[in-house]
Amino acid sequence: MMLSKSILFTLALVSNVPGSLAHWTYSRLVVNDEVVGEPWQYIRHHNNSNAPLTDVNSTDFRCNFNAQTAETYTVRAGDKIGFGIDEHFGHPGIQQVYLSRVPESSTAANYDGSGGWARVYSLTTAPANSTNSSSTTGNEGDDEVVTWATHNIQSFQLPLPATTPPGEYLLRAEGLALHAAHKWACAQFYVSCAQIKVVASSNIGGKGESAEFGPLVKIPGVYKGDEPGVLIPVFWSSLTNYTTPGPALWPEGTQEQHVVEQL
Ligand SMILES: *[C@@H]1O[C@H](CO)[C@@H](O)[C@H](O)[C@H]1NC(C)=O
Ligand SMILES: *[C@@H]1O[C@H](CO)[C@@H](O)[C@H](O)[C@H]1NC(C)=O
Ligand SMILES: *[C@@H]1O[C@H](CO)[C@@H](O)[C@H](O)[C@H]1NC(C)=O
Ligand SMILES: *[C@@H]1O[C@H](CO)[C@@H](O)[C@H](O)[C@H]1NC(C)=O
Repeated sequence: MMLSKSILFTLALVSNVPGSLAHWTYSRLVVNDEVVGEPWQYIRHHNNSNAPLTDVNSTDFRCNFNAQTAETYTVRAGDKIGFGIDEHFGHPGIQQVYLSRVPESSTAANYDGSGGWARVYSLTTAPANSTNSSSTTGNEGDDEVVTWATHNIQSFQLPLPATTPPGEYLLRAEGLALHAAHKWACAQFYVSCAQIKVVASSNIGGKGESAEFGPLVKIPGVYKGDEPGVLIPVFWSSLTNYTTPGPALWPEGTQEQHVVEQL
């Protein structure tokens, strides 16, 4: 019994099989190029293992099933912040991050995430392949299928905006796998929430402090399931353009990323 179980486990680790074995989860917080703490120390431990979510209307879409309170890690506005991915981002798709400010009366440990969320990071398609010899200049290039900047990544980081107001937050990693997203309610979401406390940037100046935190959306509510980017028009391997779902990125002017910053 023990032996066959362990053989199966080993096979699962070494094989590159599509399907359930390509699933992943976010268990580690990354700050300024380093993993901080133990797995699930600063990230709410959910009981969904590495399985995806497909119901965008469930409250479990917020921080995953049965997510348990974690510790809260203090960062400075402007720090680099991100997540480690177990084992890796195993499907075609995108990585996004949402941030929700804890009400003054509460703490990150007690907050249920029912307030507003801002979209602060979006890692989408890889840069267009300009050296592809099969395409010449002009329209032909427009028909190239997209590739993904998330391919097999094991971590990612974003700059926590320097204008992030001091306070406690939930930081939500949302991986969106598109391999079945040509079918209704078959896009797969991989979700975890970190608890962070943001203190003011050491970079004094305060320019942009007045920039409003938002637009804010509710989770669930951010997606309906039929918007471009969640329900895609063709099978992913034929996709020639991709429209990312979600509200405008905050702060205003933030661009989608096409290259990952890994550890
Ligand atoms: C996760 O926890 C919820 C709530 O306790 C429970 O209903 C569900 O069965 C659990 N799921 C797993 C996979 O253990
Ligand atoms: C770029 O094009 C080359 C040559 O066709 C190909 O081998 C490579 O896989 C392409 N890279 C991407 C990211 O599409
Ligand atoms: C989510 O709820 C909205 C609003 O009720 C509905 O239009 C949509 O079809 C639902 N999506 C899924 C995937 O059930
Ligand atoms: C985007 O891709 C879809 C499906 O492949 C195609 O029908 C549509 O014309 C494309 N749009 C643009 C602007 O290229």
